[in-house]
Amino acid sequence: MNKMYLRDAANFIQKKVNTAPSVGLILGSGLGVLAEEIENPTVIKYKDIPHFPESTVSGHKGQLVIGELEGRQVVAMQGRFHYYEGYSMEQVTFPVRVMKEIGVETLFVTNAAGGINESFHPGDLMIITDHINNMGDSPLIGPNDEQLGPRFPDMSEAYDRDLISHAKQSAERVELQVREGVYIGNTGPAYETAAEIRMLRTLGGDAVGMSTVPEVTVASHAGLRVLGISCISNMAAGILDQPLTHDEVIDTTAKVREDFLGFVKDMLKTLPA
Ligand code: 6GU
Repeated sequence: MNKMYLRDAANFIQKKVNTAPSVGLILGSGLGVLAEEIENPTVIKYKDIPHFPESTVSGHKGQLVIGELEGRQVVAMQGRFHYYEGYSMEQVTFPVRVMKEIGVETLFVTNAAGGINESFHPGDLMIITDHINNMGDSPLIGPNDEQLGPRFPDMSEAYDRDLISHAKQSAERVELQVREGVYIGNTGPAYETAAEIRMLRTLGGDAVGMSTVPEVTVASHAGLRVLGISCISNMAAGILDQPLTHDEVIDTTAKVREDFLGFVKDMLKTLPA
């Protein structure tokens, strides 16, 4: 990772805004609507930011939105980069390092995920308590820049305990039943087979998706406090007698939009400074 590239990107962003966001939001498939609630927004297209990759998948917008949300200065990624698109792990996680570089301390990471836990239902929201990197790669492979983080970072509390309990309190306040569980990151782009889902359940997974693990690995390396939220958009293969489609992912995230927005907004509003 070239620190100069990070500085270039950070300088470009910092020249466009007067305030320094302290909270970063990575908004997953169908969850980008949260960025539309940001007040006094400065919108920066990924393609305009030096060294930023460009987004391709439908349902993903490809821009940073910086402004105020529930009284907090935030920077939101409307659309993220996926490993299955062909980006390197370094490219997938570049925005997280840029967020750190512009002063972000807390990162909310969201995604749409398939339910592995058979007690889940499509539309459930799950607080991620931990993850399993099943991608066969890591964004930290290669020479380590000690300025960015340690060579062998601890991952025993990648998902901040205080933020998890904070999220549970928010869920109660907004009267939302939320789940908790372990997110497994797979590369995709194919959804899993039913046999793979049985394996992942045995391994301790509650939800499976194609993102989040690289970003959280880098965020943890950088010393960011992370909160992860999965929207269970569908049940994984072999649980219900129906095929998996990206349309279902988008339809379900649309249905839980209001719950999701209310939940995240309450978390921001009550987040200790
Ligand atoms: Cl079932 N699997 C994966 N890998 N990603 C998903 C999913 C399933 N459902 C939504 N995203």
